[in-house]
Amino acid sequence: MVMNGPKVFRWVLDVELLWPTPPDGTNGLQPSAREATARWASGKESQYALSLLTPGEQAKVLRFYRPSDAKLSLASCLLKHRAIATTCEVPWSESTIGEDSNRKPCYKPSNPEGKTLEFNVSHHGTLVVLVGCSGGDVRLGVDIVRMNWDKDYATVMKEGFQSWARTYESVFSDREVQDIAHYEAPEHDDVQDTIRAKLRHFYAHWCLKEAYVKMTGEALLAPWLKDVEFRNVQVPLPTSLVVDGAPEVNLWGQTCTDVEIWAHGNRVTDVQLEIQAFRDDYMIATASSHIGAQFSSFKELDLEKDVYP
Ligand SMILES: CC(C)(COP(=O)(O)OP(=O)(O)OC[C@H]1O[C@@H](n2cnc3c(N)ncnc32)[C@H](O)[C@@H]1OP(=O)(O)O)[C@@H](O)C(=O)NCCC(=O)NCCS
Repeated sequence: MVMNGPKVFRWVLDVELLWPTPPDGTNGLQPSAREATARWASGKESQYALSLLTPGEQAKVLRFYRPSDAKLSLASCLLKHRAIATTCEVPWSESTIGEDSNRKPCYKPSNPEGKTLEFNVSHHGTLVVLVGCSGGDVRLGVDIVRMNWDKDYATVMKEGFQSWARTYESVFSDREVQDIAHYEAPEHDDVQDTIRAKLRHFYAHWCLKEAYVKMTGEALLAPWLKDVEFRNVQVPLPTSLVVDGAPEVNLWGQTCTDVEIWAHGNRVTDVQLEIQAFRDDYMIATASSHIGAQFSSFKELDLEKDVYP
C-alpha cells in the first residue's frame, strides 16, 4: 500500500494524575457521588482547566457523578480545542466544537475560507485519545478499550465464553459471534492465559468495529451493525513489561493491520484500519476512510506543554 495520503496525527493523554481532588476539610465522611465531582471541580487545577471551556462544556463535564469520568470529559474537550486551534490556526476562543447531524463532534470554521479539521475522540480507563487530520476529505474514527481482567475473568468463569460472546449478538454478525466464541487461543499451559487471550481477541474485535462505526459517524444509530463483518481479526500483543527485571520503557505494543471488512457479503477495500496495544491492557483502533492515510505514531501529551493555551 502506498502511504502518500493525508497525514493523521494521533494523541493520547493520561488523566490519572491530573487535576487532583483537594483534600477533604470536613468530618471525613464519604461524600456522595455528586459532591465528589463538585469537590473535585473546586480544586485550583480543575478550576483553571474548566475555565478554558464554554459554559455548555463545563456543564457537561460537571454532570458526571464520578470525578474519574468528569476528568475524561474535561480532557476530551481540551484536546478537541487544542486540535482545532493548532490545526486550523484559530485562537482558542474561536475553536468552537460543533456536532454533525449524527452528533459526531466536528469543527466548522466561521470563515468559509478557514482551514478545516476532521477528528475523533475516545476515552477509557484513564486515557483519552484524539486522532485528527487537516482538511475535510477524510473521515476518521478511533476507539480505545481497556480490559477489565478481574471482572471479565469472573464472568467468563461463571457463564462460559459462548455465553460471553452471545451477549454481543446485537452488534456482531452470527459469524463474528462464532469467531469470538470459538477463537483458538495460542497454546497456554495456564487456563487463565487462555481466557486472557480469548478476551483480548474479543476486545480487539470490538475496538476495530467501534472505530469503524465511529468513522462513519452513525454510531449506535447504524442499522447495518450486524451486516458489517470483521474477519481475520489479529490481536496486537503488549510489549513485555519486564526485561531482565526492569520495567520496559516502550509501552507501545504490536500493531495489526490485516483485518478484513465485509459488508453484506462484499469485501470493503476503501477503509484503512489498524489496532495497537498500549501498556498491558489497552488497545487503540484507528479507522480512516482514505486508503494510504499516514498514521503518525501516538504522541503522549504533556498537559502544560502541549495542551493548555
Ligand atoms: C458515543 C459513541 C459513538 C461511542 O461511545 P463509547 O464507545 O462509549 O465512547 P468513546 O469513548 O469511544 O467515544 C466517545 C466519543 O465519541 C465521540 N462521538 C460522539 N458521537 C459520535 C458519533 N456519532 N460518531 C463518532 N464519534 C462520536 C465524542 O467525541 C465522544 O466523546 P466526548 O463526548 O467526550 O466528545 C456511542 O454513542 C456509540 O454509539 N457507540 C456504539 C456502540 C456500539 O454498539 N458499538 C458496536 C460496535 S462493536
